[in-house]
Amino acid sequence: MRFENNVVMVTGGAAGIGRVTAENFAKEGAKVSICDVNPQAGEITAKELGPQASFEQVDVSDSTSVLNWVERVLDTYGQIDVLVNNAGITRDGLIMRMKEDDWDAVINVNLKSAFNCIKAVSKIMMKQRSGRIINLASVVGVIGNPGQANYVASKAGMIGLTKTVAKELASRGITVNAVAPGFIETDMTASLSDKVKEAMLSQIPLGKAGTPKDVAETILFLASDSAAYITGQVIHVSGGMYM
Ligand code: NAI
Repeated sequence: MRFENNVVMVTGGAAGIGRVTAENFAKEGAKVSICDVNPQAGEITAKELGPQASFEQVDVSDSTSVLNWVERVLDTYGQIDVLVNNAGITRDGLIMRMKEDDWDAVINVNLKSAFNCIKAVSKIMMKQRSGRIINLASVVGVIGNPGQANYVASKAGMIGLTKTVAKELASRGITVNAVAPGFIETDMTASLSDKVKEAMLSQIPLGKAGTPKDVAETILFLASDSAAYITGQVIHVSGGMYM
């Protein structure tokens, strides 16, 4: 029970990597608050996580909704120990055809969301003089990927944000790290064509896609006492796609 008495917030916790991350924290004794834009899936997930878990319908790109969520969690539990900025979307297309709305949506949900959530929890964590923030980046935020200018820019931005906030908050005992998954089997990747999936698999030295559990294990490690001296890092969970 590594996270007994810890309060953990996971964005986009209704499905995929966020859901498995929330499950793993709950199994290790944490009180977990998940948020998501999908209320049906969010309620079901929270129920399955058990009595220590709760769900809030929040669009993480909206700073007021985020602030309200953070205030409610603080009112309920009196502390916030871990924030996982996991919510993310894709709106793929080549740059010359990419719609402005698709650029804005991806930047807002994937990157501005982290600004909203970190800003809201950092004051609380600074007062506590402890806290863990884990941001979901992506291997493509480091190596680039044609057809994903908006997504890649958001993930590269997440890495810069991670390093800067890590430096700003370190003196208060708060660590900030990023996890960069490669090709993980979730709803996000399920819609890719077999051709694209095969092309991705051919770039993975370990020869297979990753699972949400592979990513969740790394997130739990970074939130644990074992990672107390690690901050400002990007940990790749990609089967070696990037070395
Ligand atoms: P997913 O699509 O399975 O789940 C994402 C969750 O975020 C969904 O429940 C969705 O409803 C929620 N969400 C979307 N917009 C939201 C908003 N505005 N506010 C609150 N919640 C919102 O995605 P997956 O695969 O689990 O990805 C999780 C994170 O990992 C994302 O940040 C993604 O970019 C990143 N990632 C995923 C990879 C993969 O291969 N699946 C690879 C690299 C990074």
